[in-house]
Amino acid sequence: MKAADLLQEVPSLNPYKQYGKVTRAVGLTIESKGPRTSVGELCYIHPQEKKEPVLAEVVGFKDKYVQLMPLKQTAEISPGSLVEATRKPLQIKSGHGLIGKVIDGTGQPLDGSVLPEGLSPVPTEAEPPNPLLRPRINEPLSLGIKAIDGLLTIGKGQRIGIFAGSGVGKSTILSMLTRYSEAEVNVIALIGERGREVKDFIERDLGEEGMKKSVVVVATSDQPALMRIKGAMTATAVAEYFRDQGKQVNLMMDSVTRFAMAQREIGLAVGEPPTTKGYTPSVFAMLPKLLERSGTSQAGSITAFYTVLVDGDDLNEPIADAVRGILDGHLVLDRKLADKGHYPAINVLQSISRVMEELVDEDHQKAADNLRRLLSTYMESEDLINIGAYKKGSSKEIDKAIKMQPAINQFLQQDTSEVLTFSETRKALIEQFGKGE
Ligand SMILES: Nc1ncnc2c1ncn2[C@@H]1O[C@H](COP(=O)(O)OP(=O)(O)O)[C@@H](O)[C@H]1O
Ligand SMILES: [Mg+2]
Repeated sequence: MKAADLLQEVPSLNPYKQYGKVTRAVGLTIESKGPRTSVGELCYIHPQEKKEPVLAEVVGFKDKYVQLMPLKQTAEISPGSLVEATRKPLQIKSGHGLIGKVIDGTGQPLDGSVLPEGLSPVPTEAEPPNPLLRPRINEPLSLGIKAIDGLLTIGKGQRIGIFAGSGVGKSTILSMLTRYSEAEVNVIALIGERGREVKDFIERDLGEEGMKKSVVVVATSDQPALMRIKGAMTATAVAEYFRDQGKQVNLMMDSVTRFAMAQREIGLAVGEPPTTKGYTPSVFAMLPKLLERSGTSQAGSITAFYTVLVDGDDLNEPIADAVRGILDGHLVLDRKLADKGHYPAINVLQSISRVMEELVDEDHQKAADNLRRLLSTYMESEDLINIGAYKKGSSKEIDKAIKMQPAINQFLQQDTSEVLTFSETRKALIEQFGKGE
């Protein structure tokens, strides 16, 4: 900082530290008498045996007491521990030096190393760009996955949900997007997964190639709920930082469901009533706050992929419902396809990209519609065909759907090592499915 800038800061400095004292701990929260502070501010709680202070956030007030939630495990805190106000919300540091790094929810390297020099401070919580000043989504983003580029074309700055149960290929799709899409920077948030899954994803799925232009933010399931919330916020803040630099950023969050569960934990701990399926009202207030931050801005764009866990393929559970209402499309991964070895297991008939029409030319759209119609005809008659009850020649449309089925499957399936650009996919789609009737 220059001397003049430093001088400007002087009037806002508060030379007195403000302290309070821990009075009790209730479940996940710690109550203290004082300091003077407001919701969202960070405090340090000082354990009495001169150990490292514990970072905590003010989450509410009850009578005259401050309710705090720690960002780390809290074995050492006891009644009388000092609570020091920092007068600031959580900030992290972002910049080019973060690329290739794995950080935690507070922006610190996960391997315990120190952050590189030259990063700039950014707040983890920010307002979404003004909706009226947001450029329209009008340019396709080449993702390198045929089924998506061809039939569910996604634009730069679009926000999509990936709805799936466990083990149907979410992580695999995210790793393909990281390696093959034309984005300049990838920010990957792993929220609420187990430590082993995180290690597998970073080492096996992403590998060195995937890390080259990626920042990974990790908040595992064993960390406090607040840390999982911060992981999602921090990843979004890092993506925003690169968008402000004019970059095309991919933000991938796995999963929004675990983010919602963390917020539910916090909500219940501070006394909110459970409403829809045990989720508290603040969950539904937080979701748009998080999801609206990605997308286009006047500087650049964040194309975002948010995974949503759907148990037993129930696409109407409350989080899936809320997320679907906010985003510009969704991909449904289907266990039945995965069981057949059809990967990526995208059910294209149940999936939708709401802006595709504005991104592709007429030939592309026509070929995509054609493929969908043939597939839908085949699916409707599949049972009859499989038991041999369909007589060839009864319907021209079904005959054609049967004939084209191998080509459709071949187009929709893709090996994880197979790479195609958007224009290669478009060309293949039009060649095979461009002719109607
Ligand atoms: N494109 C693919 N090609 C081949 N196998 C795949 C593909 N995608 C997923 N799989 C198989 O499915 C398994 C689970 O995928 P994963 O991405 O870990 O699922 P999730 O993250 O949804 O739990 C993988 O271990 C792999 O065997
Ligand atoms: Mg996974």
